Amino acid sequence: MRIHTFEEYQKAYQESIEHSETFWAAVAKHFHWFQPWEKVKSGDFEAVNFQWFIGGKTNLCYNCIDRHLPKRADQVAIIWEPNEPTEPVRKITYQQLYELVCQFSNALLDLGVRKGDRIAIYMPMVPEAAIAMLACARIGAIHSVIFAGFSAQALAERIQDAKAKILITANAMKRGTKLIPLKAIADDALKQCPSIEKVIVYERLRDYAVSMRKDRDLWWHTLVEAYPKGNKAAVMDAEDPLFILYTSGSTGKPKGILHTTAGYMVYAAYTFLNVFQYNEGEIFWCSADVGWITGHTYVLYGALLNGATTLFFEGTPLYPTPARYWKVIEKHHVNIFYTAPTAIRALMAQGDQWLKGFEFPSLRVLGSVGEPINEEAWRWFYEKVGKNRCALVDTWWQTETGGIMISALAGITPLRPTYASLPLPGVQPVILNENGEECHPKDKAVEGILCIKDSWPGQARTMWGNHQRFIETYFAPYKGYYFTGDGALKEPDGYIRIIGRIDDVVNVSGHRIGTAELEDVINKHPAVAESAVLGAPHPVKGQQLYAFVIPKQETNIDENTLEKEIKALVEKEIGAFARPEHVQIVPGLPKTRSGKIMRRILRKLLYKQEDQLGDTSTLLNPEIIEPIKQGLKI
Ligand code: WT7
Repeated sequence: MRIHTFEEYQKAYQESIEHSETFWAAVAKHFHWFQPWEKVKSGDFEAVNFQWFIGGKTNLCYNCIDRHLPKRADQVAIIWEPNEPTEPVRKITYQQLYELVCQFSNALLDLGVRKGDRIAIYMPMVPEAAIAMLACARIGAIHSVIFAGFSAQALAERIQDAKAKILITANAMKRGTKLIPLKAIADDALKQCPSIEKVIVYERLRDYAVSMRKDRDLWWHTLVEAYPKGNKAAVMDAEDPLFILYTSGSTGKPKGILHTTAGYMVYAAYTFLNVFQYNEGEIFWCSADVGWITGHTYVLYGALLNGATTLFFEGTPLYPTPARYWKVIEKHHVNIFYTAPTAIRALMAQGDQWLKGFEFPSLRVLGSVGEPINEEAWRWFYEKVGKNRCALVDTWWQTETGGIMISALAGITPLRPTYASLPLPGVQPVILNENGEECHPKDKAVEGILCIKDSWPGQARTMWGNHQRFIETYFAPYKGYYFTGDGALKEPDGYIRIIGRIDDVVNVSGHRIGTAELEDVINKHPAVAESAVLGAPHPVKGQQLYAFVIPKQETNIDENTLEKEIKALVEKEIGAFARPEHVQIVPGLPKTRSGKIMRRILRKLLYKQEDQLGDTSTLLNPEIIEPIKQGLKI
């Protein structure tokens, strides 16, 4: 399963394309199966019915924990570093994790949770979030983790869409200096969620009182007491649903991306091992929150599947000082550190003095994920943190892909800043032009739409409750391909650089935000007639959200008030992280004769490329460009 040299990578890659089923069968043999598969792979992108390890029976939680017990019962599985550096660290061994997960899963079973039921998890970055996820996987319940930065309204929508039966949350949490009253937010959300039968509340903050509804709410610590610390993991079908994770797209409501059991497991483990070149006994730290896919696949599943020690960090990069990350690396002897460009740029902006005195002898591999990493940030991370001796892997993937798709293998693939580099075995990226034709670089690089040819095991299977929308979003745009929504450039030697989203999705600090979703929220404001939200460049966040708003004729609300109210509305409907940075009142928006907003023009203005507005002859109202330009806030 492990690749050791660049030649081995090339061989594995070729094998994975020419004999895909033999290749993945050899990888899958490293796991525990209650019953082996009958066929490795079936289906295609035309019918959108791909399946992996068909007929196989396995359990993800068993493979994350039970399988390791003979060898590493006393090895630490999870190190927890709390938000407050003065609060004690927790270390949970594989044996302890087994007991805690079994106990919690026994409680869930006793509450009536059955295979296929949905469990919503709205938690801080504490080991109990992992215990809850693993317990679901153990009994075949489908978890849906909702990032603890989402508002009550956003939480409610996700619970409703999945018709979750149980909500697992905490009384409250702190992120940096900010207190987040999770239970109170949940109570607010649950007014609209009749499917929820029970709420399990983990006491994260001692002495933080919350109201508990007698017939519905249970404290985690009292609930679990009665249950034994062992049980048998459920026998799951390879294609049984494992989890739902909501993500934003270019249109409509958030999509419940569904991953299934065996393919996701095999792919998470394989990519973790090979991209980071994980060695026995190493400490892995991925700074992502479990509320996002990176947290699912690498903080938790990929790490545990490889018997690794994974670090859960509850805090933020700047709290209590910009040296926090460096202190965590030093304190826990972190060997592999996987983070996001936005965090790197934020720390870079604080100045190098925060790194004074840190040598990081334990560090071996650095990783970046979530958005393109610019060359300056790449070099700073490589030199100042990696001390010019660590591999820095830039890993491209998506919620929908389940695991890393394009990345260097640490210490194996030659590094080139700003290039995610080469595809992992089993992944066939192609660059398409606007007509959907494949472009192959000959003497110079080609640029176009990034699509993937043929299925890989970790691929999402459907959208919860809406397979048709799944097909339309990812497989209808270019027949026979999976459409990523990203633009990319490919060099003649195969190296790939990700350019960014080409659809109406904005990436703010690694958070993926659909502009259509945001416009829907803004248009709810009584004084707003119409709006257009776009991404604009931002030095630290990568992109920032910029809203153009046409007020209703009859209103005379002043610009500042409207801006404030719109921001508050977004915070209420989605969460603070989706708040637009700027709101500009405009008399109109550039439109085509058919009434469609010409977003391209607004984008050019925001990127200061007004000399490249392109063809404006189809515009109904070209005179609107100048006043918009005059009023720009950036
Ligand atoms: C989008 C997916 C799964 C990673 C966390 C985000 C962008 C992700 C990179 C990278 C350039 C990247 C893409 C992608 N993205 N990694 N290394 N270089 N862009 O997952 O929320 O599903 O967002 O993040 O635009 O489509 P996500």
